[in-house]
Amino acid sequence: NNYCVIMAGGIGSRFWPFSRNNRPKQFLDFFGTGRSLLQMTFDRFSKFVPAENILIVSNMLYKDMILEQLPAIKPDQILLEPTRRNTAPCIAYAVHRIKAMTDKANIIVTPADHLILKENEFQKAILKGLEFIETHDNLLTLGMKPNRPETGYGYIQLADGDGDLRKVVTFTEKPNLEMAKVFVQSGEFYWNSGMFLWNLQTIEQAFQNLLPELYQKFVQRPEVFNTPQEQEYINEVFPSCHNISIDYGIMEKADNVYVLTAEFGWSDLGTWGSLYDLAEKDEHQNVTLQCKAQYYESEGNIVTLEPDKLVVLDNLSGYIVAESANVLLICKKENEQRIRQFVADVQVNH
Ligand code: GDD
Ligand code: MG
Repeated sequence: NNYCVIMAGGIGSRFWPFSRNNRPKQFLDFFGTGRSLLQMTFDRFSKFVPAENILIVSNMLYKDMILEQLPAIKPDQILLEPTRRNTAPCIAYAVHRIKAMTDKANIIVTPADHLILKENEFQKAILKGLEFIETHDNLLTLGMKPNRPETGYGYIQLADGDGDLRKVVTFTEKPNLEMAKVFVQSGEFYWNSGMFLWNLQTIEQAFQNLLPELYQKFVQRPEVFNTPQEQEYINEVFPSCHNISIDYGIMEKADNVYVLTAEFGWSDLGTWGSLYDLAEKDEHQNVTLQCKAQYYESEGNIVTLEPDKLVVLDNLSGYIVAESANVLLICKKENEQRIRQFVADVQVNH
């Protein structure tokens, strides 16, 4: 009895100006393949989870876009949040919906916006994970080998031992750069991929123990879930939920976390830097997407403008130059985590 919960309600703010409030990156066709990141995620999981057991959790704003992009799902498989409260409330909602549908379930929780290059390896890892949670009441995350001190990820410290399935000693969400460097150098840490597997009873227990206030919001009226009254109830309780991610709220605190390490060509496409890492570079390590560019004494840039534009860079290295509709961003690549702040500071229609 496998379920998949696709979290698709983020705004992808570090990919601004490509990603916008009215069209976040999970709905964009990043690679010109005709499929958005959300559609690619759905395709990937529908190979081993029945389509009717795939739930999409997102903001109300995106309902029509999701229906349009995923004609294979029914409207009631889209769980709509009236406000953005990060991933812990999003998952709590999905858990209570699933609970109303079945007593026993193995649940895969996944972001909607990740890229996976080796689908076969990925499937093997998920199947192994499902087998594990079927018989173990543990919270399982998929761990990725780190190759740089990225501060936007969670870091997982593995217990001694061998094999690809290990107990987690510590989980540290978004450490500062200094800590991230120590973690990567030690060789004991993996990145949290943000994909989780657990059975219904284990995740429910974790909410009850570690986020009791949040848990309480969803258990007042269990009879409304999976009925036409659900939305009204959610609209009422959701705005009062604490804004917290599952990583800070549960994964950092729980003592029954396990990790399955795997290698399947993963990228979270979280920032311009992660796209830069994946993309093809010229002999001066510049990445040019869509547009044309001429570089003079300029290295290590990622440049994307509207397709008919030409840009000339002179003595500019290590920058993001990104234009989309009415916004042009010029930002040092190493400062990309600040893009969140830039977005918060500008007007809504940008
Ligand atoms: N429904 C819903 N509601 N979805 C949300 C919300 C929300 O309020 N907020 C975020 N999401 C979705 C995003 O669209 C994305 O698919 C997923 O949840 C993860 O959220 P991010 O905001 O992208 O998290 P992150 O990238 O900062 O960190 C997470 O992923 C990293 C790997 O990519 C963490 O799990 C880190 O530990 C992890 O390393
Ligand atoms: Mg992310």
